[in-house]
Amino acid sequence: MFPKSKLRCIKCKKEFNSDEVIYVCRSCGSLLEVVIEPPKVSLEDMADRPLGVWRYEEFLPVEEGSEIVTLREGGTPLYRCDRLAKWAGVKRLYIKYEGANPTGSFKDRGMTLGVTKAKSLGSKAVACASTGNTSASLSAYAARAGLTCYVLLPAEKVAMGKLAQALMHGAKVISVKGNFDDALKLVMELSVKMEIYLLNSVNPWRLEGQKTLAFEVIDQLGHVPEFVAVPMGNCGNISAIWKGFREFKSAGIIDRLPRMFGVQAEGAAPVINMLRKNLETLVPLSNPETLATAIRIGNPVNWPKAVMAIKESNGLYESVSDDEIVEAQRVIATLEGIGVEPASAASVAGVKRAVSKGMLGKKDEVVCVCTGHLLKDPEEVIKVCGRPVEIPPDLLAVSKALSGK
Ligand code: F0G
Repeated sequence: MFPKSKLRCIKCKKEFNSDEVIYVCRSCGSLLEVVIEPPKVSLEDMADRPLGVWRYEEFLPVEEGSEIVTLREGGTPLYRCDRLAKWAGVKRLYIKYEGANPTGSFKDRGMTLGVTKAKSLGSKAVACASTGNTSASLSAYAARAGLTCYVLLPAEKVAMGKLAQALMHGAKVISVKGNFDDALKLVMELSVKMEIYLLNSVNPWRLEGQKTLAFEVIDQLGHVPEFVAVPMGNCGNISAIWKGFREFKSAGIIDRLPRMFGVQAEGAAPVINMLRKNLETLVPLSNPETLATAIRIGNPVNWPKAVMAIKESNGLYESVSDDEIVEAQRVIATLEGIGVEPASAASVAGVKRAVSKGMLGKKDEVVCVCTGHLLKDPEEVIKVCGRPVEIPPDLLAVSKALSGK
Protein backbone atom coordinates (compact mmCIF):
# COMPACT_ATOMS: atom_id res chain seq x y z
CA MET A 1 0.00 0.00 0.00
CA PHE A 2 1.38 3.36 -1.03
CA PRO A 3 1.05 6.24 1.45
CA LYS A 4 -1.06 9.36 0.88
CA SER A 5 1.08 12.46 0.47
CA LYS A 6 1.14 16.20 0.01
CA LEU A 7 3.75 18.81 -0.86
CA ARG A 8 4.91 21.31 1.74
CA CYS A 9 7.15 24.36 1.45
CA ILE A 10 10.22 23.92 3.65
CA LYS A 11 10.13 27.62 4.54
CA CYS A 12 6.59 29.05 4.75
CA LYS A 13 5.04 25.57 5.28
CA LYS A 14 2.29 26.21 2.72
CA GLU A 15 0.83 22.93 1.48
CA PHE A 16 -0.06 21.78 -2.03
CA ASN A 17 -1.81 18.72 -3.42
CA SER A 18 0.31 15.87 -4.70
CA ASP A 19 -1.14 16.13 -8.22
CA GLU A 20 0.03 19.73 -8.74
CA VAL A 21 2.90 20.15 -11.18
CA ILE A 22 5.06 22.60 -9.22
CA TYR A 23 8.73 22.51 -8.34
CA VAL A 24 8.97 25.40 -5.86
CA CYS A 25 6.51 27.03 -3.46
CA ARG A 26 3.96 29.13 -5.33
CA SER A 27 3.84 31.50 -2.40
CA CYS A 28 7.47 32.17 -1.44
CA GLY A 29 9.57 30.37 -4.10
CA SER A 30 11.35 28.04 -1.64
CA LEU A 31 11.94 24.32 -2.03
CA LEU A 32 9.13 21.82 -1.57
CA GLU A 33 9.20 18.51 0.24
CA VAL A 34 6.89 15.55 0.13
CA VAL A 35 5.12 14.76 3.38
CA ILE A 36 3.71 11.30 4.13
CA GLU A 37 2.02 9.82 7.19
CA PRO A 38 4.58 7.55 8.89
CA PRO A 39 3.32 4.04 8.00
CA LYS A 40 2.73 1.32 10.57
CA VAL A 41 5.15 -1.24 9.22
CA SER A 42 8.24 -3.09 10.49
CA LEU A 43 11.37 -4.36 8.77
CA GLU A 44 10.04 -7.91 9.22
CA ASP A 45 6.84 -7.03 7.35
CA MET A 46 8.96 -6.07 4.35
CA ALA A 47 11.64 -8.75 4.72
CA ASP A 48 10.25 -11.18 2.12
CA ARG A 49 10.40 -8.63 -0.67
CA PRO A 50 13.57 -8.25 -2.81
CA LEU A 51 16.02 -5.61 -1.56
CA GLY A 52 15.53 -2.50 -3.68
CA VAL A 53 13.59 0.73 -3.93
CA TRP A 54 10.09 -0.83 -4.12
CA ARG A 55 10.62 -3.07 -1.08
CA TYR A 56 9.70 0.03 0.92
CA GLU A 57 6.40 0.80 -0.85
CA GLU A 58 4.69 1.92 2.37
CA PHE A 59 7.07 4.91 2.28
CA LEU A 60 6.80 5.63 -1.46
CA PRO A 61 4.15 8.20 -2.35
CA VAL A 62 2.83 7.18 -5.75
CA GLU A 63 -0.83 7.01 -6.72
CA GLU A 64 -2.54 3.70 -6.03
CA GLY A 65 -2.84 1.86 -9.36
CA SER A 66 0.15 3.70 -10.95
CA GLU A 67 2.08 1.92 -13.64
CA ILE A 68 5.48 1.57 -11.93
CA VAL A 69 8.38 2.39 -14.26
CA THR A 70 11.27 0.28 -13.04
CA LEU A 71 14.58 -1.24 -14.11
CA ARG A 72 14.98 -2.98 -10.70
CA GLU A 73 16.97 -0.19 -9.08
CA GLY A 74 18.43 -0.16 -5.59
CA GLY A 75 19.37 -3.29 -3.71
CA THR A 76 22.99 -2.26 -4.12
CA PRO A 77 25.77 -3.91 -2.08
CA LEU A 78 26.97 -2.58 1.25
CA TYR A 79 30.60 -3.67 1.42
CA ARG A 80 32.56 -3.81 4.66
CA CYS A 81 36.01 -2.43 3.77
CA ASP A 82 38.58 -3.22 6.44
CA ARG A 83 41.67 -2.25 4.45
CA LEU A 84 40.09 1.03 3.50
CA ALA A 85 39.12 1.67 7.14
CA LYS A 86 42.75 1.20 8.12
CA TRP A 87 43.92 3.49 5.32
CA ALA A 88 41.46 6.21 6.35
CA GLY A 89 42.03 5.74 10.09
CA VAL A 90 38.55 4.78 11.31
CA LYS A 91 37.27 1.70 13.14
CA ARG A 92 34.86 0.56 10.42
CA LEU A 93 34.18 1.75 6.95
CA TYR A 94 31.41 0.52 4.66
CA ILE A 95 30.80 1.44 1.05
CA LYS A 96 27.23 1.64 -0.20
CA TYR A 97 28.00 0.96 -3.84
CA GLU A 98 25.52 2.86 -5.97
CA GLY A 99 27.49 2.06 -9.12
CA ALA A 100 25.60 -1.25 -9.06
CA ASN A 101 22.34 0.43 -10.10
CA PRO A 102 20.91 -0.26 -13.60
CA THR A 103 22.49 2.82 -15.21
CA GLY A 104 25.45 2.88 -12.84
CA SER A 105 24.48 5.60 -10.36
CA PHE A 106 22.17 6.43 -7.45
CA LYS A 107 20.02 8.55 -9.77
CA ASP A 108 18.04 5.44 -10.74
CA ARG A 109 16.45 5.34 -7.28
CA GLY A 110 15.01 8.78 -7.93
CA MET A 111 14.07 8.22 -11.55
CA THR A 112 11.94 5.15 -10.90
CA LEU A 113 9.78 7.35 -8.65
CA GLY A 114 10.05 10.49 -10.76
CA VAL A 115 9.20 8.87 -14.08
CA THR A 116 6.38 6.87 -12.48
CA LYS A 117 5.04 10.20 -11.23
CA ALA A 118 5.47 11.78 -14.69
CA LYS A 119 3.39 8.94 -16.17
CA SER A 120 0.63 9.20 -13.61
CA LEU A 121 0.41 12.97 -14.15
CA GLY A 122 -0.05 12.28 -17.86
CA SER A 123 3.19 13.95 -19.01
CA LYS A 124 4.41 13.06 -22.48
CA ALA A 125 7.92 14.46 -22.16
CA VAL A 126 10.53 14.76 -19.41
CA ALA A 127 13.66 16.89 -19.14
CA CYS A 128 16.71 17.60 -17.03
CA ALA A 129 19.97 19.49 -16.93
CA SER A 130 22.83 17.30 -15.87
CA THR A 131 26.50 16.87 -15.13
CA GLY A 132 25.91 13.43 -16.71
CA ASN A 133 24.40 10.81 -14.42
CA THR A 134 20.95 12.35 -14.13
CA SER A 135 20.72 12.48 -17.92
CA ALA A 136 21.95 8.88 -18.30
CA SER A 137 19.36 7.70 -15.81
CA LEU A 138 16.46 9.83 -17.02
CA SER A 139 17.00 8.84 -20.64
CA ALA A 140 16.90 5.13 -19.71
CA TYR A 141 13.75 5.47 -17.58
CA ALA A 142 12.05 7.67 -20.18
CA ALA A 143 12.77 4.99 -22.77
CA ARG A 144 11.34 2.33 -20.46
CA ALA A 145 8.21 4.46 -20.01
CA GLY A 146 7.85 5.44 -23.66
CA LEU A 147 8.29 9.16 -22.95
CA THR A 148 10.22 11.77 -24.90
CA CYS A 149 13.34 12.93 -23.09
CA TYR A 150 15.29 16.17 -23.39
CA VAL A 151 18.63 16.71 -21.68
CA LEU A 152 20.78 19.82 -21.42
CA LEU A 153 24.45 19.21 -20.67
CA PRO A 154 27.34 21.59 -19.95
CA ALA A 155 29.43 21.48 -23.13
CA GLU A 156 32.64 19.40 -22.93
CA LYS A 157 32.30 18.74 -19.20
CA VAL A 158 30.30 15.52 -19.21
CA ALA A 159 32.14 12.21 -18.82
CA MET A 160 32.08 10.01 -21.91
CA GLY A 161 30.25 7.04 -20.38
CA LYS A 162 27.35 9.19 -19.27
CA LEU A 163 27.06 10.97 -22.60
CA ALA A 164 27.09 7.60 -24.36
CA GLN A 165 24.17 6.41 -22.24
CA ALA A 166 21.99 9.47 -22.89
CA LEU A 167 22.67 9.24 -26.63
CA MET A 168 22.00 5.52 -26.93
CA HIS A 169 18.77 5.62 -24.91
CA GLY A 170 17.41 8.06 -27.45
CA ALA A 171 17.25 11.31 -25.52
CA LYS A 172 17.42 14.58 -27.39
CA VAL A 173 20.80 15.73 -26.10
CA ILE A 174 21.76 19.39 -26.22
CA SER A 175 25.15 20.80 -25.26
CA VAL A 176 24.98 24.20 -23.58
CA LYS A 177 28.03 26.44 -23.81
CA GLY A 178 28.06 27.16 -20.12
CA ASN A 179 28.21 25.20 -16.87
CA PHE A 180 25.64 23.00 -15.13
CA ASP A 181 24.12 25.94 -13.28
CA ASP A 182 23.42 27.70 -16.61
CA ALA A 183 21.87 24.53 -18.04
CA LEU A 184 19.65 24.03 -14.98
CA LYS A 185 18.35 27.59 -15.11
CA LEU A 186 17.47 27.10 -18.78
CA VAL A 187 15.73 23.78 -18.33
CA MET A 188 13.69 25.08 -15.38
CA GLU A 189 12.40 27.91 -17.56
CA LEU A 190 11.84 25.56 -20.47
CA SER A 191 9.87 23.03 -18.45
CA VAL A 192 7.38 25.67 -17.31
CA LYS A 193 7.04 27.21 -20.76
CA MET A 194 6.67 23.98 -22.70
CA GLU A 195 4.94 21.87 -20.05
CA ILE A 196 7.70 19.29 -19.97
CA TYR A 197 8.01 17.43 -16.67
CA LEU A 198 11.25 18.46 -14.94
CA LEU A 199 13.25 15.70 -13.29
CA ASN A 200 16.18 17.44 -11.68
CA SER A 201 16.49 17.00 -7.93
CA VAL A 202 14.55 20.24 -7.34
CA ASN A 203 11.62 17.92 -8.09
CA PRO A 204 10.82 16.57 -4.61
CA TRP A 205 9.28 13.32 -5.90
CA ARG A 206 12.66 12.16 -7.15
CA LEU A 207 14.13 12.49 -3.69
CA GLU A 208 11.43 10.12 -2.42
CA GLY A 209 13.11 7.34 -4.38
CA GLN A 210 16.59 8.36 -3.30
CA LYS A 211 15.67 8.20 0.39
CA THR A 212 15.48 4.39 0.10
CA LEU A 213 19.28 4.27 0.32
CA ALA A 214 18.89 5.01 4.04
CA PHE A 215 16.34 2.18 4.40
CA GLU A 216 18.66 -0.30 2.72
CA VAL A 217 21.59 0.68 4.93
CA ILE A 218 19.48 -0.09 8.02
CA ASP A 219 18.36 -3.40 6.54
CA GLN A 220 21.89 -4.42 5.49
CA LEU A 221 23.85 -3.18 8.48
CA GLY A 222 21.30 -4.24 11.09
CA HIS A 223 21.83 -1.04 13.07
CA VAL A 224 22.05 2.73 12.63
CA PRO A 225 25.56 3.77 11.50
CA GLU A 226 27.25 6.59 13.38
CA PHE A 227 28.16 8.59 10.27
CA VAL A 228 27.00 8.59 6.66
CA ALA A 229 29.36 10.38 4.24
CA VAL A 230 27.85 11.69 1.01
CA PRO A 231 29.41 13.65 -1.88
CA MET A 232 27.42 16.82 -2.55
CA GLY A 233 26.79 18.49 -5.90
CA ASN A 234 23.28 19.83 -6.33
CA CYS A 235 22.69 18.57 -2.76
CA GLY A 236 19.61 16.44 -3.41
CA ASN A 237 21.05 13.12 -2.34
CA ILE A 238 22.23 14.02 1.16
CA SER A 239 18.82 15.63 1.78
CA ALA A 240 16.99 12.54 0.51
CA ILE A 241 19.07 10.13 2.59
CA TRP A 242 18.55 12.22 5.72
CA LYS A 243 14.78 12.26 5.05
CA GLY A 244 14.87 8.46 4.78
CA PHE A 245 16.50 8.05 8.17
CA ARG A 246 14.07 10.53 9.72
CA GLU A 247 11.06 8.68 8.30
CA PHE A 248 12.32 5.33 9.60
CA LYS A 249 12.62 6.95 13.03
CA SER A 250 9.11 8.45 12.82
CA ALA A 251 7.79 5.01 11.89
CA GLY A 252 9.50 3.56 14.97
CA ILE A 253 11.81 1.29 12.92
CA ILE A 254 14.96 2.90 14.34
CA ASP A 255 15.38 4.78 17.60
CA ARG A 256 18.24 7.12 16.77
CA LEU A 257 19.69 8.91 13.76
CA PRO A 258 23.13 8.94 12.12
CA ARG A 259 25.23 12.05 11.68
CA MET A 260 25.38 13.17 8.06
CA PHE A 261 28.77 14.09 6.60
CA GLY A 262 28.61 16.29 3.49
CA VAL A 263 31.68 16.42 1.24
CA GLN A 264 32.35 18.73 -1.70
CA ALA A 265 35.27 19.12 -4.10
CA GLU A 266 37.49 22.05 -3.12
CA GLY A 267 36.89 23.96 -6.38
CA ALA A 268 33.12 23.51 -6.15
CA ALA A 269 32.37 23.85 -2.45
CA PRO A 270 29.85 26.66 -1.98
CA VAL A 271 27.98 24.80 0.78
CA ILE A 272 31.14 24.00 2.73
CA ASN A 273 32.26 27.63 2.39
CA MET A 274 28.92 28.79 3.70
CA LEU A 275 29.01 26.46 6.70
CA ARG A 276 32.64 27.33 7.50
CA LYS A 277 31.86 31.02 7.50
CA ASN A 278 28.58 30.46 9.33
CA LEU A 279 26.67 32.40 6.66
CA GLU A 280 22.87 32.53 6.50
CA THR A 281 22.73 32.04 2.78
CA LEU A 282 24.74 30.48 -0.03
CA VAL A 283 27.15 32.55 -2.10
CA PRO A 284 27.12 30.87 -5.53
CA LEU A 285 30.39 30.24 -7.35
CA SER A 286 30.38 31.40 -10.95
CA ASN A 287 33.28 29.20 -12.07
CA PRO A 288 33.23 25.91 -10.16
CA GLU A 289 36.10 23.61 -11.17
CA THR A 290 36.98 20.03 -10.30
CA LEU A 291 38.04 16.88 -12.08
CA ALA A 292 35.01 15.25 -10.43
CA THR A 293 32.73 16.67 -13.14
CA ALA A 294 29.62 15.07 -11.58
CA ILE A 295 29.81 17.54 -8.69
CA ARG A 296 31.12 20.54 -10.62
CA ILE A 297 28.29 22.79 -9.42
CA GLY A 298 28.50 26.36 -8.15
CA ASN A 299 24.88 27.10 -7.27
CA PRO A 300 23.29 23.95 -5.85
CA VAL A 301 19.49 24.30 -5.76
CA ASN A 302 19.00 22.02 -2.78
CA TRP A 303 21.49 23.77 -0.50
CA PRO A 304 18.86 24.70 2.14
CA LYS A 305 17.87 21.04 2.52
CA ALA A 306 21.50 19.89 2.70
CA VAL A 307 22.37 22.49 5.31
CA MET A 308 19.36 21.34 7.33
CA ALA A 309 20.47 17.71 7.06
CA ILE A 310 23.97 18.54 8.31
CA LYS A 311 22.81 20.86 11.09
CA GLU A 312 19.87 18.77 12.32
CA SER A 313 22.00 15.65 12.47
CA ASN A 314 24.85 17.42 14.26
CA GLY A 315 26.82 16.37 11.21
CA LEU A 316 30.16 17.12 9.62
CA TYR A 317 31.25 18.91 6.45
CA GLU A 318 34.53 19.05 4.59
CA SER A 319 36.00 19.80 1.18
CA VAL A 320 38.65 17.71 -0.55
CA SER A 321 41.15 18.49 -3.31
CA ASP A 322 41.16 16.75 -6.69
CA ASP A 323 44.40 14.99 -5.69
CA GLU A 324 42.72 13.61 -2.58
CA ILE A 325 39.75 12.48 -4.68
CA VAL A 326 41.99 10.66 -7.16
CA GLU A 327 44.01 9.05 -4.36
CA ALA A 328 40.81 7.80 -2.69
CA GLN A 329 39.47 6.54 -6.02
CA ARG A 330 42.66 4.51 -6.56
CA VAL A 331 42.70 3.15 -3.03
CA ILE A 332 39.05 2.07 -3.20
CA ALA A 333 39.82 0.31 -6.49
CA THR A 334 43.11 -1.32 -5.50
CA LEU A 335 42.52 -2.18 -1.83
CA GLU A 336 38.89 -3.25 -2.13
CA GLY A 337 38.17 -4.04 -5.78
CA ILE A 338 35.40 -1.45 -5.98
CA GLY A 339 35.39 0.78 -9.06
CA VAL A 340 33.94 4.23 -8.52
CA GLU A 341 33.94 7.48 -10.44
CA PRO A 342 35.79 10.52 -8.98
CA ALA A 343 32.77 12.26 -7.39
CA SER A 344 31.96 9.02 -5.56
CA ALA A 345 35.43 8.85 -4.08
CA ALA A 346 34.91 12.26 -2.49
CA SER A 347 33.01 10.63 0.39
CA VAL A 348 35.96 8.38 1.23
CA ALA A 349 38.48 11.20 0.70
CA GLY A 350 36.35 13.26 3.08
CA VAL A 351 36.64 10.61 5.79
CA LYS A 352 40.44 10.53 5.48
CA ARG A 353 40.57 14.33 5.63
CA ALA A 354 38.26 14.38 8.69
CA VAL A 355 40.56 11.91 10.46
CA SER A 356 43.59 14.09 9.73
CA LYS A 357 41.75 16.98 11.39
CA GLY A 358 40.66 14.92 14.40
CA MET A 359 36.95 15.12 13.49
CA LEU A 360 36.78 11.34 13.06
CA GLY A 361 39.00 8.62 14.48
CA LYS A 362 39.70 5.07 15.56
CA LYS A 363 36.40 4.67 17.40
CA ASP A 364 34.16 5.69 14.52
CA GLU A 365 32.02 3.78 12.07
CA VAL A 366 31.21 5.39 8.73
CA VAL A 367 29.10 4.40 5.75
CA CYS A 368 30.45 6.09 2.63
CA VAL A 369 28.01 6.49 -0.22
CA CYS A 370 29.86 5.82 -3.48
CA THR A 371 27.48 7.29 -5.98
CA GLY A 372 28.62 6.14 -9.44
CA HIS A 373 30.50 3.45 -11.37
CA LEU A 374 34.16 3.68 -12.43
CA LEU A 375 33.27 3.19 -16.12
CA LYS A 376 31.27 6.40 -16.17
CA ASP A 377 34.48 8.36 -16.73
CA PRO A 378 37.07 6.24 -18.58
CA GLU A 379 38.95 9.30 -19.82
CA GLU A 380 39.75 10.40 -16.28
CA VAL A 381 41.13 6.92 -15.56
CA ILE A 382 43.52 7.09 -18.51
CA LYS A 383 44.53 10.60 -17.47
CA VAL A 384 45.47 9.55 -13.94
CA CYS A 385 46.68 5.96 -14.55
CA GLY A 386 48.32 6.43 -17.96
CA ARG A 387 48.10 4.06 -20.92
CA PRO A 388 49.51 0.53 -20.78
CA VAL A 389 52.97 -0.09 -22.29
CA GLU A 390 52.89 -1.33 -25.87
CA ILE A 391 55.12 -4.19 -26.97
CA PRO A 392 55.68 -6.27 -30.11
CA PRO A 393 53.96 -9.68 -30.02
CA ASP A 394 56.89 -11.78 -28.72
CA LEU A 395 57.66 -13.58 -25.46
CA LEU A 396 60.90 -11.79 -24.70
CA ALA A 397 59.18 -8.44 -24.95
CA VAL A 398 56.38 -9.64 -22.66
CA SER A 399 58.79 -10.86 -19.98
CA LYS A 400 60.81 -7.66 -20.21
CA ALA A 401 57.69 -5.57 -19.86
CA LEU A 402 56.42 -7.66 -16.92
CA SER A 403 59.70 -7.33 -15.06
CA GLY A 404 59.63 -3.63 -15.74
CA LYS A 405 62.95 -3.55 -17.68
N1 F0G B 1 27.97 11.73 -7.24
C1 F0G B 1 27.67 11.57 -8.52
C2 F0G B 1 28.32 10.45 -9.25
C3 F0G B 1 26.75 12.44 -9.15
O1 F0G B 1 26.47 12.25 -10.42
C4 F0G B 1 26.19 13.49 -8.41
C5 F0G B 1 25.26 14.44 -9.02
C6 F0G B 1 26.52 13.60 -7.05
C7 F0G B 1 27.42 12.71 -6.51
C8 F0G B 1 25.95 14.66 -6.19
O2 F0G B 1 24.61 14.42 -5.89
O3 F0G B 1 23.61 16.49 -6.78
O4 F0G B 1 22.34 15.01 -5.25
O5 F0G B 1 24.26 16.35 -4.41
N2 F0G B 1 25.02 14.52 -10.25
C9 F0G B 1 23.99 15.36 -10.87
C10 F0G B 1 23.82 15.00 -12.32
C11 F0G B 1 24.15 16.78 -10.59
O6 F0G B 1 23.39 15.86 -13.11
O7 F0G B 1 24.08 13.87 -12.69
P1 F0G B 1 23.64 15.65 -5.55
